[in-house]
Amino acid sequence: MYFFATPTAILLFFFQAGWTLKLPSYIKPCKMSDPKLDECVVKHGLAAVPKFINGDPKYRVPRLEPLDITELKVRQGTKQVGLNMILKNCKIYGIKSTKFIEARTNLPGKHIEWDFKIPRIEILSDYEVDGQVLILPITGKGKANVTLTNLEITYKYDWVYENKNGKSFMNFTSSELLFDTGRTYFDLQNLFNGDKFLGSNMNRFLNENWKDVTKELGPAVGQAFSDVFRLLLTRIAAQVPFEEIYLS
Ligand SMILES: *[C@@H]1O[C@H](CO)[C@@H](O)[C@H](O)[C@H]1NC(C)=O
Ligand SMILES: *[C@@H]1O[C@H](CO)[C@@H](O)[C@H](O)[C@H]1NC(C)=O
Repeated sequence: MYFFATPTAILLFFFQAGWTLKLPSYIKPCKMSDPKLDECVVKHGLAAVPKFINGDPKYRVPRLEPLDITELKVRQGTKQVGLNMILKNCKIYGIKSTKFIEARTNLPGKHIEWDFKIPRIEILSDYEVDGQVLILPITGKGKANVTLTNLEITYKYDWVYENKNGKSFMNFTSSELLFDTGRTYFDLQNLFNGDKFLGSNMNRFLNENWKDVTKELGPAVGQAFSDVFRLLLTRIAAQVPFEEIYLS
């Protein structure tokens, strides 16, 4: 019975019973026929960021500042000459400063691309690492601070339409996230069982070779962002009919 008492469950219940929502009041829809549709999307999208980041239970949108991610896994190469790194209980700060740069909206082709810039992302977490990073052995467990600057993100996605109760909803099929960073800073505490000398040498090494190390870390971080985009879009699009998102 408790299950039915939670707001999410009640919302889910109404949703499944055919309830539909409008866009949240802080996201202004754009007109499909607008000759400057892409500019409209960027303007309204950018305006929504400060509201969005606090989360919105009504749309089942989680809080984004800080964003909680249970686990980021980096796995490179084989067990003998590879790197196994897990960042656990991650708190990710910086999404609130996201700049929406450009949108490329192709509604007839059911394809959309969005470009974002984030000046700085700070990932504070517990970590466990074991293996080799750029041929040096590394092992440890403790607190990590991984800070990425000047992120450039392009998110592309496709969808099909799905009819529910006479309304058309976007059902996302494929998506892709491209991502590039400026500098990356690493601070892994308690490396090598707390050996100060080895630990600070390794941190210096990571920071001097940030470009190559980020290449190893990049896919995991990219995947995490991609999952977040997908979650947000899916949750909104599952509840808000297409005609409420892009007005005719
Ligand atoms: C994390 O690292 C960045 C870059 O070195 C630093 O500016 C920031 O203060 C650190 N954050 C914490 C909580 O230590
Ligand atoms: C969306 O499409 C997928 C795959 O075609 C399908 O399994 C799913 O039931 C559809 N609807 C929703 C609401 O996800």
